[in-house]
Amino acid sequence: MRFSEDFLSELRARTDIEELVGRYTEIRHKGSRNPNALCPFHTEKTPSFYIYRENQSYYCFGCGAGGDAITFVRNIERLDYTEAVRFLCERAGMMMPNDPVDDEYNKLRRRCFEANREAAKFFCGMLGTPAGKAAREYLSKRRLTPETVKHFGLGFAPDSWDSLIKYMKGKGFSENDLVAFDLAKKTSKGGTIDAFRNRLMFPIIDLRGNVIAFGGRVLDDSKPKYLNTSDTVVYKKSQALYALNFAKNSNDRKLILCEGYMDVIAMHQAGFTNAVAGLGTAFTTEQISLLTRYCDELTLCFDSDEAGKKATKRALAMLSSAPLKLKVMYLDGGKDPDEIIKTQGREKMTSIINDAVNDTEYALNDAKSRFDIKTEDGKLGFLNEAVNILAGIRNAIERDIYISKLAGELDVEKNAIAAQIKKQSRFNQKAKENERFSEALNAVLGTEKKNSPNPELRGNVRAVKAEEIILASLLKNPDYLKKLKGKLTAEIFVTDFNRRYFEDIRTRIESGRSLDLFSFGEDHENEEMAYLSYLLTKSNEIENAVKECEQCIITLIEEKSKKEAPDVAKLSDDDYLELFRKKRDKKKTEGV
Ligand code: CTP
Ligand code: MN
Repeated sequence: MRFSEDFLSELRARTDIEELVGRYTEIRHKGSRNPNALCPFHTEKTPSFYIYRENQSYYCFGCGAGGDAITFVRNIERLDYTEAVRFLCERAGMMMPNDPVDDEYNKLRRRCFEANREAAKFFCGMLGTPAGKAAREYLSKRRLTPETVKHFGLGFAPDSWDSLIKYMKGKGFSENDLVAFDLAKKTSKGGTIDAFRNRLMFPIIDLRGNVIAFGGRVLDDSKPKYLNTSDTVVYKKSQALYALNFAKNSNDRKLILCEGYMDVIAMHQAGFTNAVAGLGTAFTTEQISLLTRYCDELTLCFDSDEAGKKATKRALAMLSSAPLKLKVMYLDGGKDPDEIIKTQGREKMTSIINDAVNDTEYALNDAKSRFDIKTEDGKLGFLNEAVNILAGIRNAIERDIYISKLAGELDVEKNAIAAQIKKQSRFNQKAKENERFSEALNAVLGTEKKNSPNPELRGNVRAVKAEEIILASLLKNPDYLKKLKGKLTAEIFVTDFNRRYFEDIRTRIESGRSLDLFSFGEDHENEEMAYLSYLLTKSNEIENAVKECEQCIITLIEEKSKKEAPDVAKLSDDDYLELFRKKRDKKKTEGV
C-alpha cells in the first residue's frame, strides 16, 4: 500500500535513527555529527557503520548496508516494507493507516501464539498421563521438583505420529497451520506428522508471556539430543533468550548466561533466578542488544569443556564493545551448572558465582595457563600477551592495578611493563587508524565492488565517480536541477545504472515529490535504498557542489566521447582515413 507523504514525514519526525540503531548495536561518539558503531549486519572489529543524523540515514562502509530507518528495520527484523512501517509506527506511538494486508499478517501471528499455547497445554497434560510416566521419572532423576516443572511449563510429547495433530485439529487448527508453526512436519510421502515425538518439552516464552517456540529433549542418549522450533512468524531463535521472561525481573540488573535449558532450570530452582540461555545457536549480536536492555552486568557460565571455553572467548570478543560489565565463572568440579548443583549443592554454586572474575582477569588467566612462567621464555611469552591485553584497557587506574599485580607476580619492574603497554597501545591505535583510512579510501575510490552496486563500474571508474557526485548533490540540493538546466541531462550519464537513478530523482524533483529517503522506500528495494544512502554519505563530503557538478558534467562528456571514439586498430583503411580527415579538419577549425 502507499502511505501519504504527510504520514511518512510525521513518522520520520518521530523516529530517531540513532536511538533505533542503538537498540541493536552500541553507538560510539554519541554526541558527534556522524556517530558510528559496529555494523549489526556483519561481523567486524572496528566500526564502519555510520549514522548520518542530518538525513537520518546509515551506511556501512564494510558491507554496503545502508538506508533509512525503515530499511534498517526491514533488514534487521526481516520485515517487509509495510511491516517495518508498522514496527516504527508502534514505537512512535502513532496509528497505522488502515490496511487489510497487514491484518492478515497479524492474524497469522496471533494464530501462531494461540496454537503454541494450546500445544503447550497439551504437552503439560500428557506429562500427567500414563504415557508420560517415563518423562516423569526422567524429571525426578534430574531432580526437578514439581514446582519447577510447573513454573517452566515443562511437558511431554508422546511417542506417537499424530497425537498433537489430532488434538490441535479438535481445537480448530489445520495441518497447514501446524506445519507453518513448526508443530508438525510434512513427510516425503506427503503426509503430516508431529514435529516433536517422545520428548520432554520446554516451552520458550517471550517477554509478554506468549509461548513462541519449543525445545524438546530425548529421554535417553539418542540423537539429536534436542530438537528446537525453526524460525516462524513469531520466533527467531537468534533473537531470543531462554527464561529471560523470568530473569528480567531480577532487580539488580545482573544476568547469568548459561549454555542450556537444563542449566537455566537448575539455576532457577537453586535460587539463581537471573540465569538465561541462548537457544541452540552461537551467541548473536541481537542477543547482546536484548541483554543490554535488562542488565548492566553479565556473567558467562558456559560449560567447562573445551567447547565451552571456546564459546566463552568468542562471546567475550563479541561483548567487548557492549556497555556491560563482564564476568566469567570457573565451573570447577563439574561440566555445567546443572551438574555442579546436583552433585555439590547450591552453596558450591554460590561460591563459584562469587569467585567469578572480570573479563581482563579471565584473559590474563587464560594467557598464563598457556605458558610455564617458571622459565624465562614462558615469563616473556606471557608478559607479551599480558601487555597486549592491558593495552586494551582505557581506564588508567584499572590498568595500573593490573600492572602492579603483574610486576609483583613476575618480579619485573613496573615501569618496564607500563612503558611496553604504552608502546603497544600506540601501535594498536595506528593499526586502527590505518584500517579506517583504507576503508574510507576504498569507499571513496569505489574500488571495492561492495561500495558501488553499479554493474558497469569496471572500466568506468572515473565516470561512475562523477555520476555519483552529481546524484549525491542533487539529493541534497534539488534546486541544482534548475541551476544546471541544459547541461545536466540523462544523456550525459555513462552508465545505465546511474542514469536510471537520475531519471528517478529528476522526476521526483519535477513533480514536487519528496526526496526524503523515507519516501523512496515504497518504490525501492533494500539494495537500492542502500545505494541511495551511500550517495547521501557522499553528499556530505562535497563542498562547493555546483562547481563540483559542473566539473563532473565535463568529466562525463569526456568519458563518453572516449567511449564513443572508435577503436583505431579495428578500423578498415577507408574508415581510418575518414577519421584522420575529420580530426585534421577539427584541428584546423580550432586553429591548432
Ligand atoms: N542444543 C541443541 N541441539 C542439540 C544439542 C544442544 O539445540 N542437539 C542446545 C540446547 O539449547 C541445549 C544447549 O544447546 O540446552 C546445551 O547443550 P548441552 O550442553 O549438550 O545440553 P544440556 O543443556 O547440558 O542438556 P542436558 O544436561 O540435558 O544434557
Ligand atoms: Mn547438562
